[in-house]
Amino acid sequence: NEGALWGARFASGPSPELVELSRSTHFDWILAPYDIAGSHAHATALEAAGYLEADEARRMHDGLDAVARKVADGTIVAQLTDEDVHGALEQALIAEVGGELGGRLRAGRSRNDQIATLVRMYLLDHSRTIARDLLRVIDAIVAQAEAHPEAIMPGRTHLQSAQPVLLAHHLQAHAWPLVRDLERLRDWSARASVSPYGGGALAGSSLGLDPTLVARELGLAAPAENSIDGTSARDVVAEFAYIAAQIGIDISRFAEDVIIWNTREFGFVTLDDAFSTGSSIMPQKKNPDIAELARGKSGRLIGNLSGLLATLKGLPLAYNRDLQEDKEPVFDSVTTLEVLLPAFAGMVATMRFDTARMSVLAPEGFSLATDVADWLVRRGVPFRDAHEVSGALVQACESRGIGLEDASDELFAAVSPLLEPAVRDVLAIEGSVASRAGVGGTAPVRVAEQRAALVARAQEV
Ligand code: ARG
Repeated sequence: NEGALWGARFASGPSPELVELSRSTHFDWILAPYDIAGSHAHATALEAAGYLEADEARRMHDGLDAVARKVADGTIVAQLTDEDVHGALEQALIAEVGGELGGRLRAGRSRNDQIATLVRMYLLDHSRTIARDLLRVIDAIVAQAEAHPEAIMPGRTHLQSAQPVLLAHHLQAHAWPLVRDLERLRDWSARASVSPYGGGALAGSSLGLDPTLVARELGLAAPAENSIDGTSARDVVAEFAYIAAQIGIDISRFAEDVIIWNTREFGFVTLDDAFSTGSSIMPQKKNPDIAELARGKSGRLIGNLSGLLATLKGLPLAYNRDLQEDKEPVFDSVTTLEVLLPAFAGMVATMRFDTARMSVLAPEGFSLATDVADWLVRRGVPFRDAHEVSGALVQACESRGIGLEDASDELFAAVSPLLEPAVRDVLAIEGSVASRAGVGGTAPVRVAEQRAALVARAQEV
C-alpha cells in the first residue's frame, strides 16, 4: 500500500474491489487548489507553533507552489492508486520536498477536518459565480421590463384569463424570487464561512496549532466552535443544495411561461435564433430548448438536494465515510447552474415580445369584469351586488358571442339599471391597468417604482 495515508497496522493491502469503491479522485480532484491552500495555511500554523523552522516552512510553501503549478498544467494528475485528493497531493509534495519534510505536514490535521473545510471553500467561491450569473438574469429581466414599460398583457390565474396586467409587472414578478435567491446565497455565506480545519479526525488538536490563523489564511471568518460538529455536519452543504434547487425552481417557472408564450397559439414571444434549436426531421421547427432544459434541470437540482438529505439522515456522529457522498450532488448543482444561468440570461435578453398581440388578447375572456364591479363599487354599490351585476353582464355577452366592450346601452340597461353607459370608461385595458395603483399594483407608475426598488435590492446584495 505504498504511498497511502494509512496501512501500517494492516497485514495486507486493500483488495482491488475496495480500492475501486473507495476512490474519490474522479470527483474530489476539483478540490486540489483548496487542498493546497489548506496545506499552506496549515504549514504556517505549524511554523507559528514551532513545529517547522522558518527555512523548512519556506521550502514547504515553495513545494506546495510547485505542486499547485503542476496540478494546474496537468503534470500532476491523480493516479489510480490514489484514494483521494488529499493522499495524492501529499505524495506530490513529498516528491517535491522529500519525505522528511513532506511527512511533517500531516501533523495535527485529518482528512476529516480538511474535507469539511475544503467543501466550504469550494462552495463559497462558486456561490460568488452563481450570484454573478443570477444577477445577469435579473438584469436581463429588468432590461426587458424597461424596454416595455407600458405594454399590457392578459394576466392569468389557473392559466385562465383573469385581469390585464403590465408585461413589465409580470416580468418583474419573475425577478423578485431571484433577488431573494441572491439574498439567500449571501445569508448562507455568512453561515458557511467557518473553518473546521484543526478539528482533526473529531476531537481537536493537541499540538497547540492556531485555528484562527488557519481560518484567516483561508479567508474564512472563524474556526468551528465544536470539532465534532465541524468535521461531521453537512447542513451547510445541504443548505447550499437547497438554494441551488430553489434557483432552479424559480428559473423553471419563468421557463414554463416562455415555453407557453412561445407557442403559435399564444405567440407572445419570439426567441432569438442564437438561443433556439431546430429539429432533425421537421425543417420548420424552432424550439425553446433553453427554457425546457431549465425546466428539466430543476428536477436534477431537486434530486441532488434530496439525495444529499437522504445521505445525511440518521448518520451518527462523528465522521462517517458516507459523508464522501456529499460532494458529487452538490458539485453537480454548481456545474448545472453555472451552465444554465448564462444561457438563460442570453435567452431572456434577446426575447422579442409581440406586444400588439398581447394587448389585443388582454381584454379577451371578459378580463375587465372586475373593473365593471369596481366601477359599481365606486358608485356606492355593495361589492356583492356589483359582482352579481358584472357576472350577469358577462353571461349576457357570452351568450351573444360578444365582448364586454361590444355591449350596447340597451344590453347594459337590460342586465341592470345600475349599468349606465358611463361604465364604458373602464372597459379599456389601459384604464383598467392604470386604476390598479395601490402598492404593488400593476399601474405603470407603480411598476416603474417597483422596478427601481428591485434594482436597488439586487445591488445591495
Ligand atoms: N474522501 C473523504 C470525504 O470526502 C475524506 C476522507 C476521510 N476518510 C476517512 N477514512 N476518514 O469525506
